[in-house]
Amino acid sequence: MLRVENLNQYYSGSHILRGLSFEVEPGKVTSLLGRNGVGKTTLMKCLMGLVKSRSGSIAFNGKDITHAPSHERVRAGIGYVPQGREIFPRLTVEENLLMGLATKPGGTKIPDLVFELFPVLRSMLNRRGGDLSGGQQQQLAIGRALAMDPKLLILDEPTEGIQPSIIKDIGHAIRTVARRNATAETSRSIEERQEVQNAIRRVADTGQVAILLVEQYYDFARDLADHYLLMERGEFIMRGLGADMDKDGVREALAV
Ligand SMILES: Nc1ncnc2c1ncn2[C@@H]1O[C@H](COP(=O)(O)OP(=O)(O)O)[C@@H](O)[C@H]1O
Ligand SMILES: [Mg+2]
Repeated sequence: MLRVENLNQYYSGSHILRGLSFEVEPGKVTSLLGRNGVGKTTLMKCLMGLVKSRSGSIAFNGKDITHAPSHERVRAGIGYVPQGREIFPRLTVEENLLMGLATKPGGTKIPDLVFELFPVLRSMLNRRGGDLSGGQQQQLAIGRALAMDPKLLILDEPTEGIQPSIIKDIGHAIRTVARRNATAETSRSIEERQEVQNAIRRVADTGQVAILLVEQYYDFARDLADHYLLMERGEFIMRGLGADMDKDGVREALAV
């Protein structure tokens, strides 16, 4: 779904991202861990085209997007929830969600999934975004990204500064989104056998959501991760399966 090769980025002469290569697979959560200042957000900005990469390549769904403008990446199906949420404080919850929907060609209705995952948003549709609590704003930011029905969802530190109970809701939502389309496509292919071939092709093409989760909160990242990456000063110093994170000593490496 997303393939990054040998990505390099500098800020005024200092080498921030150092030859990064990795992939994010559909239907899977890839957790990217690393302490403050190691380059996680810079990497997300490169993926979104908000910062120009110096060298290397970024491919999405087999298409080279290394030099594509941000709006094309969004249109191609990359949803981005930036660090610090950045909702529109003066717009209502509903208007914020519609802003997300506006980036989807032909989109007219906020998907039910958004309200299934975050019921609080439905009950607050007419409130202004800025009047919501921090955790609710984070749910709104994720809901807005989901409204465009992304194929790849990038979340930069969604747990930053929010309460544990809401962190749990957000974790559940991330997991559900990653699995959901895969399950729907599989059951359809079983019910309608003559369309099995079609369904498989659709799954292989764009039928699933891939999630790239940037996180410093170890337990949250581990509980969700199918794969993990650990970044230190612009490089990946460890990577592997989410299930191996404890055994690999990722918690200790993060705490050093
Ligand atoms: N716009 C910028 N100009 C110059 N340096 C920056 C800029 N943004 C971030 N940095 C520096 O780049 C490094 C990586 O920052 P960042 O990607 O935000 O790290 P993280 O998200 O892992 O905390 C830090 O040393 C930070 O000070
Ligand atoms: Mg950051």
